[in-house]
Amino acid sequence: MKAGRFITLEGGEGVGKSTQLQAIVDTLHRLNIETCVTREPGGTPMAEQIRELILGQASEQVHRLSETLMMFAARNQHIQEVIHPALAAGKWVVCDRFVDATYAYQGGARGESTELIAQLEHWVCGELHPDLTLLLDVAPDVGMQRIADRTKDRMEQEAQSFYHAVRQTYLDRAAAEPQRFAVVDANRSLAEVTAVVTQVIEAFVTKSQGNQ
Ligand code: TMP
Repeated sequence: MKAGRFITLEGGEGVGKSTQLQAIVDTLHRLNIETCVTREPGGTPMAEQIRELILGQASEQVHRLSETLMMFAARNQHIQEVIHPALAAGKWVVCDRFVDATYAYQGGARGESTELIAQLEHWVCGELHPDLTLLLDVAPDVGMQRIADRTKDRMEQEAQSFYHAVRQTYLDRAAAEPQRFAVVDANRSLAEVTAVVTQVIEAFVTKSQGNQ
């Protein structure tokens, strides 16, 4: 049923995702590809409300399982309302974070069971998997330095060890699925990272068009 392509963008805090998201979209537009740009958690009015709940300051302890389930509740809404319809219409969906983030943050960093996340993924995502995942990789201390002046949300106030676990889980997932992931060293200058991201997208479009 999928006609478009599904590209996701992942990475820890302060990797420069917003700039690279724009570079991806600009490249696709230049190549005359119709896109749907969205994000997680979020992407629909209800999922954006769940995002506020998850990232806002909480007046009670947020249990790991509650956080995981909220991610998947938002994701289900997003898939049904936005991602599936866009792909079915032949659009290329560019999503700022998807299920790999749940493995990295709730799994690797919070310690949620990987089996449980895999079951929820199976339930909620079914056969929907990204065709390409760009992982912007940066050393956590560099990333946190970059966002030092920003007002921090709930996920940006953890200890360094949390972000090391996030990074390692992402890298492990990339190593396990090299055909899906493109790992980009985001410790470099913005211009250098943008050039690599643009090349990756151009190569992916060429390959996809060859497979049509
Ligand atoms: P960002 O999109 O602005 O980076 O913020 C989203 C935050 O939510 C970020 O800290 C990562 C976190 N997150 C999870 O913990 N699990 C998830 O499944 C997703 C999609 C995001």
